Amino acid sequence: MTPVAPASNTSEPVPNRAVPGDQNAGIDISAVTVVYGGPNGENVLALDGVDLRIADGEFVCLVGPSGCGKSTLLKVVSDLIPPTSGQVTIGGASPSEMRKAGRLGLVFQQANLMPWLTVGKNIDLLRSLVVGRGGHVPGTAPKASDLLDVVGLGGFGDKYPNQLSGGMQQRASLARALALDPAVLLMDEPFAALDEITRDRMAFELMRVWQLYRKTVLFVTHSLSEAVLLADRVVLMSPRPGRIRRVFEIDLPRPRTAETRLDERFHRLVLELNRELYAVLS
Ligand SMILES: Nc1ncnc2c1ncn2[C@@H]1O[C@H](COP(=O)(O)OP(=O)(O)OP(=O)(O)O)[C@@H](O)[C@H]1O
Ligand SMILES: [Mg+2]
Repeated sequence: MTPVAPASNTSEPVPNRAVPGDQNAGIDISAVTVVYGGPNGENVLALDGVDLRIADGEFVCLVGPSGCGKSTLLKVVSDLIPPTSGQVTIGGASPSEMRKAGRLGLVFQQANLMPWLTVGKNIDLLRSLVVGRGGHVPGTAPKASDLLDVVGLGGFGDKYPNQLSGGMQQRASLARALALDPAVLLMDEPFAALDEITRDRMAFELMRVWQLYRKTVLFVTHSLSEAVLLADRVVLMSPRPGRIRRVFEIDLPRPRTAETRLDERFHRLVLELNRELYAVLS
C-alpha cells in the first residue's frame, strides 16, 4: 500500500513516474481550459485555467453547481476530450498514453455492463481485450474472482447484469475499473442513480476498497456530505466560466465510519462547504 502523500495544491510537480507499469500515480492538471462550441455558434468556456495537483494515493472530490465543469474536467483527465489549452499528466504521462496502456479506471453514473456477458466476464472484458490486442496486463492485476470478493459480489460472477440490483451493478462496475490495476480511479457521480441507503453503503464500500488498493481517486459528486466523508480534499468549482473556487482540506481521521458523521468537525466542514456553495450561487 502506498501511504497518502501530504495533500498539496501548490505548483510543486507531482513526482514523475515511469509509465505504464507503476502501481499508482499522481495527477497534474495545469492551466486547463476547455471551450465547447455552442449550438448557435457561440462558444462555452467550460473550464478556464484550472490548476490542480493530486498526490499519488490521494482521494479528491470535485463538487460545485450543475454546469461548473466537473464532468468536463474528469473527461479531460480520462482522455475522453482534449483540453483546448493546458495539459494533464498522470504519473508523468499523458492521459492518452495512460488510457492506451489501460491505466485509467473509469466509473460513471450508469454501470454500463454488457448485458449479454456474466458479471465475471464483464470484469474480465478489459483484460481479454488487452490480451487480444497483444497488450500487457500488469502482473499486479487482480483476478476477477478476487475482485468480486473485494466488492462484496462473491458468488455472483455467473449472474447476468439484469439479475443484479443497481447497487450491485455499480459494485461490478467498480470491480471492472480495478481489473487492470489502474494507476488512478476517475469516478463521475457513480452513486447518483442509487437510493440513499445503497448510496451510503457504497461510500463506505468504496473507502474500504480504496484503503486496500490506495489508488489516486478523482471523484465527482453533488453531495457535499458524501464529499466530506470520502475525501482528503474537496475541490469546490464555480460556473461560467468553470474555475476552482476553493479547496477544502478534510482532516478527519481514517478509517472513516458512521461515527465520522457524528463528529462536530464533519458538520463544520459540510456547513463551510455549503456556505461557500451558496456564495458561488449568489
Ligand atoms: N458537449 C458539449 N457541448 C457544448 N457544451 C457543453 C458540452 N458538454 C458540456 N457543455 C457545457 O459545459 C459546461 C460544463 O458542463 P459539465 O457537464 O462539465 O458540468 P458539470 O459540472 O458536470 O454539471 P452537472 O453537475 O450537471 O453534471 C456547461 O455549461 C455545459 O452546458
Ligand atoms: Mg457532470
